[in-house]
Amino acid sequence: LKPTTVKDALHSESAQDTILVHGWVRTRRDAKTFSFLELNDGSCLKNLQVIAPATLANYTDVQHLTTGASVTVRGKLVPSQGQGQKWEVTAEDVTVIGTADATYPLQKKGHTPEFLREIAHLRPRSNLFGAVFRTRSRLAFAIHRFFQERGFVYVHTPIITGSDCEGAGELFRVTTHDLANPPKREDGLIDDAKDFFARRTYLTVSGQLEAEAFACALGKVYTFGPTFRAENSNTSRHANEFWMIEPEVAFCDLQGNMDLAEEFVKALIREVRTNCAEDLELFAKFVDKELLARLDFVLERPFQRVSYTEAIELLKKSGKQFEYPVEYGTNLQSEHERYLTEVVFKCPTTVYNYPKEIKPFYMRLNDDDKTVTAMDVLVPGIGEIVGGSQREERLDVLEANMRRHGVDPKDYGWYLDLRRYGTVPHAGFGLGFERMLMFVTGVPNIRDVIPFARTPGNAAF
Ligand code: 4AD
Ligand code: MG
Repeated sequence: LKPTTVKDALHSESAQDTILVHGWVRTRRDAKTFSFLELNDGSCLKNLQVIAPATLANYTDVQHLTTGASVTVRGKLVPSQGQGQKWEVTAEDVTVIGTADATYPLQKKGHTPEFLREIAHLRPRSNLFGAVFRTRSRLAFAIHRFFQERGFVYVHTPIITGSDCEGAGELFRVTTHDLANPPKREDGLIDDAKDFFARRTYLTVSGQLEAEAFACALGKVYTFGPTFRAENSNTSRHANEFWMIEPEVAFCDLQGNMDLAEEFVKALIREVRTNCAEDLELFAKFVDKELLARLDFVLERPFQRVSYTEAIELLKKSGKQFEYPVEYGTNLQSEHERYLTEVVFKCPTTVYNYPKEIKPFYMRLNDDDKTVTAMDVLVPGIGEIVGGSQREERLDVLEANMRRHGVDPKDYGWYLDLRRYGTVPHAGFGLGFERMLMFVTGVPNIRDVIPFARTPGNAAF
């Protein structure tokens, strides 16, 4: 007999003589002539109700089952007497696979997110985290589908790299040196030539530069993988290890890039809205009452588009006292981003054309010689979820940009080759996977949408 999932059992078209289902006990209640189990196997939010009659040979074992124990149940799928579900199982056999004692930390009562973070290995067994991680999986699938349906090629860019794409110095260094006793050069510095790769290497902050090489060959590409930032910021939207999706398109300009980002974000919302309906209802009930209305509202209308210069003027005119003052030439802080989307425009907002000084070397310089073709998509509740740009395709301008940013063109010879041989206008962006997941679930902390979060001081699992 092939086992079925709780989800398939609950969606069965008809009663069945025998089904086999594995799972974990959520609760047990005893009546006079039977024991009543709620079984969950993670396939869906709902539990399968199991009636285990007192006539079972191992009924005493069944009566000792506690929350968290694992069992295999064989029995009849019959119409449910109780409310809320169509089917339940009358057990003919309950095999206890693994017991769980009273120390099992996930008891029926609600737990705080902080406590659940301390049991990251068990929290996927809770309703909320089961729902979060099923949605995460579905969102990942939707991302591949979006690009594959549009003819994009999936590129695996390296995790270990020698380049610092964002130039922000937030790199995790990769080394096999014994750091207590590293090989020293004559000048006393660590000798990178003696390290594993015979040079200094890092965990990648972005696959963009490599994706550009592939876009300038295959036309439309995307990456989807882990990226790393050694930023020491303890906020609800920063992690040191997060996943990023980076489309890169040849023969595309800033306008096309903004259109793609908007279409992409909306398509992902639509996909989750249709295919994670049950989990989304849980989020709407327990995490964020406004969630469904907000997602539907976002789908209905175009994103607001506004230049950085206009955005600064609007923020200044607002008269609002921000913690960080609003100043042309400085980066928008999260409070500014949220104010734009939550108060000024009340919808997702794409800010473009930022001052060249505050953006990385690869962005295309505008004719005004002051701004670059950067674009950030900001959403209510979070702020930035997408960052991207048209890339500088002119060799001489790119080299000048690099020098201005203190980047030595000699270190990026391969990247400059893309401008030497058949250069083309091209553009792309990065969507923060976890931030998108926060947006579609309403979960307010990035630590709660990653299976095992990496944040400063936290790599316990
Ligand atoms: O704006 P960022 O730094 O852009 C890039 O890395 C570009 N190379 C992307 C490209 O053009 N191909 O990062 C892109 C997105 C941000 O908008 C944000 O959503 C997310 O990545 N992100 C983070 N998410 C979680 N934790 C962090 N520390 C993040 N840093 C960036
Ligand atoms: Mg950014």
